[in-house]
Amino acid sequence: MKILVATEKPFAKKAVDGIRKIVEDAGYELALLEKYTDKGQLLEAVADVDALIVRSDKVTAEVIAAAKNLKIVVRAGAGYDNVDLAAASARGIVVMNTPGQNSNAVAELALAMMIFMSRNRFTPGTGTELQGKTLGIHAYGNVGRLVGRKGKALGMNVVAYDPFIADGAVFEADGVKKVASVEELYRVSDFLSLHIPATAQTKGSIGYDLMMSMPKGATLVNTARKEVIDEEGVVRAMTEREDLKYITDIAAGNQAELDEKFGKRVFATAKKMGAETAEANVNAGLAAANQIVDFLKNGNTRFQVNK
Ligand code: 3PG
Repeated sequence: MKILVATEKPFAKKAVDGIRKIVEDAGYELALLEKYTDKGQLLEAVADVDALIVRSDKVTAEVIAAAKNLKIVVRAGAGYDNVDLAAASARGIVVMNTPGQNSNAVAELALAMMIFMSRNRFTPGTGTELQGKTLGIHAYGNVGRLVGRKGKALGMNVVAYDPFIADGAVFEADGVKKVASVEELYRVSDFLSLHIPATAQTKGSIGYDLMMSMPKGATLVNTARKEVIDEEGVVRAMTEREDLKYITDIAAGNQAELDEKFGKRVFATAKKMGAETAEANVNAGLAAANQIVDFLKNGNTRFQVNK
């Protein structure tokens, strides 16, 4: 069996070494395609592999068609919007993610982004503190929950909205107030941290109306996906409201326009870095390798997302 790690943005060496050990101890072969620059390299590399580990790499229908022996794809990370699930399912290929494995890295970045923006992007001038402010968490999954707990530790008043968690005890356990609607969440949040996946329902769903409803001086923090943002709506809201701020880990399609129009009120990382820690690389990479071995040897499909 041949397992390919295809990462345009490579894992830390420690993670690759760990993946290699898991794969080779299982009696399988490891192939590496790192920092590739064009789709052709990926199409060629997948031709004879049985399993594939990726990060945000695009596993399109074309990639799946080129991978004649492919049985399983594991997205080492949380969001699997980069994998064409329909194409994989049509071929009976199992797709998994590694939920929770890189969440702490993303949560720490979200808090760091709040401090960065509230301190004028570390430039001279009087800033504000997080303590005593209301932090809204949009979607209370693995990352949202960690952001909530860390926000509490910083003295923030934490509120959350998640339509898929009916059990109020989940929020109570963290001392977090569950609000009844997405509108209420934005209305009360001085900092709004986005943790929704990019789906047909969520794409373009965060824009003018929600931003305009936020309190004076509010900051929208996006460590989720750029696709969930209605970029024109954000431009309109920030033009009408000179107090609003937006920081994102995934440069907007119109980032140049945002930078030009709003200066220090916006910021985008140079390259998506939420999960860019050695710890997250090791956690997610090794989990991916273990899940593949467990699937190929024992048929374990616990983390399958295209059931
Ligand atoms: C995820 O969905 O797990 C994060 O967005 C991390 O993505 P990355 O592996 O491309 O850094």
